[in-house]
Amino acid sequence: MPTDMPNDNPRPDSSPDMDETVSDSAPEPVSANGQADPDDAAAAPPKADPSVRPKIEIQDLNFWYTDTHALKGITMNVKPHQVTALIGPSGCGKSTLLRCLNRMNELIDGTTLEGDIQVDGQDIYAPDTDPVMVRRRIGMVFQKPNPFPKTIYKNVAWGAQINGYTGDMDDLVERSLRQAALWDEVKDQLHSSALNLSGGQQQRLCIARTLAVQPDVVLMDEPASALDPIATSKIEETITELKSDYTIVIVTHNMQQASRISDETAFLYMGRLVEMNPTEKLFTRPEKDRTEAYVTGRFG
Ligand SMILES: Nc1ncnc2c1ncn2[C@@H]1O[C@H](COP(=O)(O)OP(=O)(O)O)[C@@H](O)[C@H]1O
Ligand SMILES: [Mg+2]
Repeated sequence: MPTDMPNDNPRPDSSPDMDETVSDSAPEPVSANGQADPDDAAAAPPKADPSVRPKIEIQDLNFWYTDTHALKGITMNVKPHQVTALIGPSGCGKSTLLRCLNRMNELIDGTTLEGDIQVDGQDIYAPDTDPVMVRRRIGMVFQKPNPFPKTIYKNVAWGAQINGYTGDMDDLVERSLRQAALWDEVKDQLHSSALNLSGGQQQRLCIARTLAVQPDVVLMDEPASALDPIATSKIEETITELKSDYTIVIVTHNMQQASRISDETAFLYMGRLVEMNPTEKLFTRPEKDRTEAYVTGRFG
């Protein structure tokens, strides 16, 4: 299994105002779902469900890498305590969209974002919103497990320590490892190197490390694609359990995985949102021909 040094870790800043929390802003009316761009015939505006306030509201999002227009007029909502899957062919913008949700794309030079992303009704790109706070509240797990070459305990405690966590660290480490369904396997070796764990255990450790920062949204970019089927099913079980406490957005190129674990699925194609629907509907009764062609394997 890969035991490389961490490659694309989120780099939490240790800015002095770390213990300031993003306050839940004053209650605001739930904004109506945005209508699709009129000249974008492919976009299907998400259905409004008045009973649930969206956790994340994305409104007419456009994103460029220098000259590459990677996201085109994306409007969609993510519901709380659900798993939302992003699917679509390679290069369609899944990872880009995910990284827009915690402002990680702005760490890349030459990028431009237009549009609006609100989390709990708060504009995460507002001039007075601290990107470090956004990334703390909206955690991310990457495709390749990237534990630090330190002990299991230190891997989990790391982000919380940087954030000046003042609670009981042993408790936090245990709780995070339990939530990531890893505790029973590692409780007797907390002080041995994380690099001795299997790939699947390393990925659950990375999930625990993300949870220890106490986010409320967890973004996952193909978190099981480097793992064998048994490790994959363990990760899938973990994700399913996490949704009672977190809102999860997961990129997957594996349609069986999306159908197994997600509540809603968004299908992207060439930077556009083609269709977003409850997962079961999207896979069995898609509204768009292009979705059907993709989910039945006719292209992709
Ligand atoms: N760091 C980057 N710099 C420039 N272009 C990028 C970068 N990351 C992605 N892209 C481009 O943006 C588009 C969407 O990529 P990506 O979001 O990675 O797609 P996916 O995750 O669906 O495979 C592609 O055309 C890709 O080449
Ligand atoms: Mg990707």
